[in-house]
Amino acid sequence: MSATPSFDLTGKIAIVTGASRGIGAEIAKLLAAHGAHTLVSSRRVADCQLVVDEIIASGGSAEAVACHIGELEQIEALYAHVESKHGRLDILVNNAATNPYFGPILDTDPGIFQKTVDVNIRGYFYMSTHGARLMQRNGAGSIVNVASVNGVVPGFQQGIYSITKAAVISMTKAFAVECAEVGVRCNALLPGLTDTKFASVLVNTPAILKQALAHVPMRRVAQPSEMAGAALYLASDASSYTTGAVLNVDGGYLCV
Ligand SMILES: NC(=O)c1ccc[n+]([C@@H]2O[C@H](COP(=O)([O-])OP(=O)(O)OC[C@H]3O[C@@H](n4cnc5c(N)ncnc54)[C@H](OP(=O)(O)O)[C@@H]3O)[C@@H](O)[C@H]2O)c1
Repeated sequence: MSATPSFDLTGKIAIVTGASRGIGAEIAKLLAAHGAHTLVSSRRVADCQLVVDEIIASGGSAEAVACHIGELEQIEALYAHVESKHGRLDILVNNAATNPYFGPILDTDPGIFQKTVDVNIRGYFYMSTHGARLMQRNGAGSIVNVASVNGVVPGFQQGIYSITKAAVISMTKAFAVECAEVGVRCNALLPGLTDTKFASVLVNTPAILKQALAHVPMRRVAQPSEMAGAALYLASDASSYTTGAVLNVDGGYLCV
């Protein structure tokens, strides 16, 4: 093994879910910039195609693939496509998630509960089982789960979302332990407050933002591109001895 850490992804096939915008789009662009053929996926394939066009214009390689990760048959279809077209998978970034409810935990609607669990837990889980089976064939692969600081410290009135993100951290360790012997690593990335559509209510409401930033030592929100370097590190051989790790990218939020 080279003494120089390798961030080179030439020849690798990567899937990034929720890659039509925000954190996922930045991760997809950076993986492609380092040589991976990147499957840019979300529910709206036309939006993914815009990211693909940008990647290709920059000299990278990518394709857009629709997949609602809350629907098991769509996960099956995505992997049927990957298997028939590429026959391999090297990197999976589980990034797409949902947070449909801000409100008292005691009033959580059963439908909202189920939707959040289906996307944020079941979606990540079956994307990972399918992905790890493909990676196992080559004896190598890396799964990166985008969780959240709310998986460690629950967000106020974001109960079920926070619970699912805690489950993603646990899932990361469970896959790390069981998949190490087949060469598949699994790590979690925990973003803090990041300026995306997902967090727009928090970021664009001055009173809420001020309150949130009081708990962030760096006193600012992250840009989505600031998550991508951590994802590249975990996806690449630069992190070859790292599995089951939880990497906070949160401006110091979880330190205080
Ligand atoms: N922003 C933050 O402050 C923050 C903080 C901590 C953690 N995170 C985590 O970071 C990840 C990305 O969030 P973001 O802030 O980048 O959000 P975002 O800008 O709203 O992007 C979300 C992406 O996920 C896709 N998506 C949503 N539901 C989906 C589903 N059921 N199946 C497939 N794709 C789906 C969306 O595209 P379509 O609409 O086309 O499906 C979009 O590409 C999430 O896991 C989130 O929990 C975000």
